[in-house]
Amino acid sequence: MRKCLIAGNWKMNGSAAFTDELITAIVAGLSGREAAEVLVCPPFPYLPAVAAKLSGTAVLLGAQNVSQHPTGAYTGEIAADMLKDVGCEYVIVGHSERRAMLGESNEIVAGKFAAAQKGGLKPILCVGETLEQREADRTEQVIGEQLQAVLESSGIAGLGGAVIAYEPVWAIGTGRTATPDQAEQVHRYIRELLAAKDKSVASKTQILYGGSMKGNNAAGLLDMPDIDGGLIGGASLKADEFLSIVAAAASN
Ligand code: PGA
Repeated sequence: MRKCLIAGNWKMNGSAAFTDELITAIVAGLSGREAAEVLVCPPFPYLPAVAAKLSGTAVLLGAQNVSQHPTGAYTGEIAADMLKDVGCEYVIVGHSERRAMLGESNEIVAGKFAAAQKGGLKPILCVGETLEQREADRTEQVIGEQLQAVLESSGIAGLGGAVIAYEPVWAIGTGRTATPDQAEQVHRYIRELLAAKDKSVASKTQILYGGSMKGNNAAGLLDMPDIDGGLIGGASLKADEFLSIVAAAASN
């Protein structure tokens, strides 16, 4: 049985004061008996402060990006060991915003994935197609290639130690959510790809949905057999909204 994981991706939002308020409200709103695992991914500068707030709670901490290099002269980059050092257990790799705006290729993402695991972090590998690719009926091909790059460098065992997030690019920050059936179709495809390599990995790997998930649409998505949680952007910046998604997960 796979546990549900509800992950907040705060992106480049907030301030020290906002972050403090948000994490305080999230922690206060959780009973500690949630059926879902809860994870937050704040911007880099606020990781230590959030880590301090999370100590003694079950809420997990992750970062939004990691360097593919372990150490050295890479100005402005952050290594996996450093993230581990400040209390991170997870890191998002290959988010579509970074793929599209910062030129992260499948190979770079695969490098980051491997570096994260080497540093003891659990990668959350984001995959997803653009609207253009979906309309050209290329969804499975694109996602297949995104997964293949990681499979080639880290193998199926590597993917087995990770979380996958299916995030259709056309649904991110647009208010246009994939329907539960649309999302489930791709989640099932991803699970079948994994199962072709290793059935046990396929049955254990958490596959999250991301893209305009909110309190009022979460239950329908989380109810699908191959959707094991959510990667939440906009709605993770409002404690009440985020907590209602966590609660929706718990009711499944
Ligand atoms: P959204 O973002 O929930 O604001 O659509 C999701 C994500 O980019 O991870």
